[in-house]
Amino acid sequence: MKKEDIIARIQQLKAEKNAVILVHYYTRPEIQDVADYLGDSLGLSQEAGKTEADIIVFCGVHFMAETAAIISPQKKVLIPVPDAGCSLAEGVTGKDLALWKQKNPEGLVVSYVNTTAEVKAETDYCCTSSNALSVVRNLPAGRKILFGPDRNLGAYIQQVTEREMEIWNACCCVHQPINAEMVLQALEQYPDADILIHPEASCSHDERVLNHPRTFMYSTAGILNHAKHSPKQRFVIATELGTLHKLRSDNPDKEFIPIHPDLICKEMKKVTLENLLEALEKEQYIVRIPQELRDRAIVPIQRMMP
Ligand code: 13P
Ligand code: SF4
Repeated sequence: MKKEDIIARIQQLKAEKNAVILVHYYTRPEIQDVADYLGDSLGLSQEAGKTEADIIVFCGVHFMAETAAIISPQKKVLIPVPDAGCSLAEGVTGKDLALWKQKNPEGLVVSYVNTTAEVKAETDYCCTSSNALSVVRNLPAGRKILFGPDRNLGAYIQQVTEREMEIWNACCCVHQPINAEMVLQALEQYPDADILIHPEASCSHDERVLNHPRTFMYSTAGILNHAKHSPKQRFVIATELGTLHKLRSDNPDKEFIPIHPDLICKEMKKVTLENLLEALEKEQYIVRIPQELRDRAIVPIQRMMP
């Protein structure tokens, strides 16, 4: 089938079935272009809670679709590629976390949203990269925090908030290679540019990076917002390269330079127009969360939602 025909059929089925397509910024450009809502993890969770559609087709990785299903249990949540995974979500299990809590009974557990439902069920507060600092700042003073699974986001929060924290040792295989040397080199090579960095990068807590006036640590939505409102013309982008599609379409007169050409989340790219159409046609693959698990996993998610 030709691309235009696939897109037309997707639009037709969407209308017939009262479905909505939620898409993360890291997916392929053609998937972003058919989105009803394009967002970062926090925005997508909020949208999943707000939508009046009967079906949510979630174009992203599995933990994101699972989070949407936890938030909207009355809706049918579909993921076109059920094995689209995430190295962070795979970096800690519910059992791991239960054991960590046993060893630290005084700790409050803050989990990044990039986790499975089992991990969320053991969690006190969820956060995304958009709201992590405010979630942690609002926790009762003096309480130790167990933060997981991303060590780089954790170290960044610890550095900025100066809270007592233990941090789980997992990372995002896409953002980990973004190190301080890369950022320092970009600062030198592009003296007129701001460097916009996702806090999953391994440079997230390096003082040479954090204290530089032209570096900014943001979630994907924060990066987009900065680029749009800054008077600057040039930006070095230190995150997954799918973000460039929206950056360039929102700001056709500005220049965006990837800090490295290989920052690609292969799991996010698994969603194609073909498997998205198939998902709508066959109403597959349904994300199911057992009720007992959902009842526990929803609590930390609700606590992070504004
Ligand atoms: P955002 O919270 O910026 O959407 O990031 C999600 C993610 O998976 C980053 O790798
Ligand atoms: Fe997971 Fe990293 Fe891919 Fe984000 S970019 S979905 S954290 S593997």
